[in-house]
Amino acid sequence: MRYLDPPSARTLRLVGEQLPGRPRLRHVRQFRGGLGCTNDLVEVVGDAPGAVPAAVLRRYGPGHGARGPAAAVREAAALRLAATGGCPVPVVLWSSEGTGTRPFPEAALLLGYVAGSPWHTPTDQLGWAHRLADAAAAIHRVQVGREESPQLHDRSRHAVMAEAAPSDRFRTHPLGDALWHRRRELFEGGTIGAEDQRTLVHNDFHPGNLLWLEEEITAVVDWEEAAYGDPVADIAYCASDMHYLGMDDAAKHFTARYVEQTGRSLDGYEAWMIVALCRPLPDIGRWLPSWQETGRPELSANELRDRYDGLVERVLQATAT
Ligand SMILES: Nc1ncnc2c1ncn2[C@@H]1O[C@H](COP(=O)(O)OP(=O)(O)O)[C@@H](O)[C@H]1O
Ligand SMILES: [Mg+2]
Repeated sequence: MRYLDPPSARTLRLVGEQLPGRPRLRHVRQFRGGLGCTNDLVEVVGDAPGAVPAAVLRRYGPGHGARGPAAAVREAAALRLAATGGCPVPVVLWSSEGTGTRPFPEAALLLGYVAGSPWHTPTDQLGWAHRLADAAAAIHRVQVGREESPQLHDRSRHAVMAEAAPSDRFRTHPLGDALWHRRRELFEGGTIGAEDQRTLVHNDFHPGNLLWLEEEITAVVDWEEAAYGDPVADIAYCASDMHYLGMDDAAKHFTARYVEQTGRSLDGYEAWMIVALCRPLPDIGRWLPSWQETGRPELSANELRDRYDGLVERVLQATAT
């Protein structure tokens, strides 16, 4: 993963000047481990909004390009909504998509810093899965109306149906073609993607996007894909991540605890698992650096590929008509 250069003192001054109280922002360090954005920790010196001593500058680059501004708007809307609903999330301090001048070429948000970091090595895996399930349940309790939050429009069905044929990332994996066709059938047949059962959905809910401190969750981060959608999508996606890490029992416990906690059925779980399995393509190995940076340096790309292929085969079988 390539990251952007740290923000200059001049650009940080421009951001600070757009904050209430005009605090000074000082660069501390860059976070590693993310796959989408460049996140920098900054110290807030002076009259900070809400008296936060530190903040995270989140820039939608270098991979985002033209999609950056829409992602920033979506993420800010989701963070505000999740906070209102009582979910643990960073506070939004500033957005480049507001009315002020744009200090950076790319879209950016300034978020309150939350102490904690991703945790992929629990000894009590079931307790860990239990907390993850409760965090998902809290997100899915947030009701969101389409009119109320047009920024959170769900693009999943539209994006799948707009693709006329498998793209390169599907064609270069031996199981990619089968996944692409199955995903399309499931949306087309209405197994998933219907308009009922809609809540706030994170859409990138996996252990690496939660911050933990002393075995408790302090924040859910990385909301740039959040939408008004089917909550089962988050559950299947998070469980798929646990399977890649070899934590099959944790995945089982996660889903069971979620059902117990919410009373929801997991209709469409396997179908959403197909959608989840499309995400790492063309090669789950490209996600390896993120896990290696966040506590799993021993993982190998081949081990991930074996688990991934095994799961794809199982889920293709389970969803065959
Ligand atoms: N508000 C925050 N407070 C503290 N750390 C954060 C915050 N936002 C991001 N981070 C750090 O940056 C890392 C990557 O953040 P994330 O939002 O997942 O970015 P990406 O989109 O690049 O995956 C997190 O694992 C965490 O260590
Ligand atoms: Mg992330």
